[in-house]
Amino acid sequence: AETTRIAITPGDGIGPEVIAEAVRCLEVLRAKHDLALEWTRFPWPSHAWHEQHGESWPADALDQLRDYQAILLGALGDPGPADDPDRYLLSDAVSLGPLLDMRKNFDQWVCERPARLLPGARQYLKDERAKDIDMLVIRENSEGEYVSQGGRLRKGTPDEVATQLEVFTRKATDRIIRYGFDQARKRAADRLQEGRTRSFRTLDGRTCESQVCLITKRNALRHWGDMYTEAFEEISKEYPDVAVHHELVDAACMKFVQCPWAFDVVVASNLQGDILTDLAAVLSGGMGVAPSCNLNPTNPNMPSMFEPTHGSAPDIAGQGIADPTAMLFTTARMLEWLGRKDPSLALAGQELFDAMAADLAECGNQQRTSREIGDAVCKRLRGS
Ligand code: IPM
Ligand code: MN
Repeated sequence: AETTRIAITPGDGIGPEVIAEAVRCLEVLRAKHDLALEWTRFPWPSHAWHEQHGESWPADALDQLRDYQAILLGALGDPGPADDPDRYLLSDAVSLGPLLDMRKNFDQWVCERPARLLPGARQYLKDERAKDIDMLVIRENSEGEYVSQGGRLRKGTPDEVATQLEVFTRKATDRIIRYGFDQARKRAADRLQEGRTRSFRTLDGRTCESQVCLITKRNALRHWGDMYTEAFEEISKEYPDVAVHHELVDAACMKFVQCPWAFDVVVASNLQGDILTDLAAVLSGGMGVAPSCNLNPTNPNMPSMFEPTHGSAPDIAGQGIADPTAMLFTTARMLEWLGRKDPSLALAGQELFDAMAADLAECGNQQRTSREIGDAVCKRLRGS
């Protein structure tokens, strides 16, 4: 197969620490299966880069990344030195921009955030049924609340007004909803293959193997809510085998805590998806285990970006104790994605997922350093 090339951007805080373990796993897998896989490290964006160059990342960063098939990203956001009173303001100025730039410029319009409570992961909910939590939150990643339109009028006066525009297009709405239904079908098929089944009731009393739940706030935000609902109802007709459900975002938050096992695929807008996925991460074991990816399913020549849901965690950075589990699951998903062109990569991704899941099941309750977890997973990969 033609060589697959990955750009590795470790980023800030714990990013480099967790990405180091991902790279070690990739090395083991490459050697073991003779994978046609190459990677290049980019030291930016990071605080050090910013100090030296006065910018979050080079002006031509996107051009440098454009030719890779995927970007594996550690974490972004550096609040600066602990004694700087402006440190949290700095985190906005330094190095968050590139994340949104990448999503936008590479048209990574899907953000997939699976939340499955795997054996060994921390169970925050006491209820026994929490073991059945297995949902995929699909976040619209290209527009909505993140279009960054608006401004501040009469700035600095008591009469100041800030406006923040949200833009939803029918095209982006249709494609994300359709993507959600396709994933629901795929998940049902995968479950069947693993000998697992789930059942969801439709409104007319039938049972289906999968479900899509649309999130809106259409009781208050009418224009957007109505368009999303109409698109959802229309597209759902093409998928009579998938049960449909609709929740207002506030009620969804409640139900995520009350009965998260009742959800399968969840489709949400950019901001609402952002918020719901922090909650979903906790339901499935916490930020330390929650993978994420930013995909461009339409243009195979544009890189998709793979980064855990967690941030740069400046409070524990540099100590070698960050949990690389989320990063390793994210790397597994990257390999699976790249496997569309080179099936040997998909197999390697499955192997990495299985090794990480097995390690979690066996040792998830132990206190271990990032390196120890990476070592354990590499060992499993060598042995399997
Ligand atoms: C995420 C993050 C980002 C977002 C921030 C860092 C801009 O919270 O990836 O979930 O809001 O999308
Ligand atoms: Mn977030």
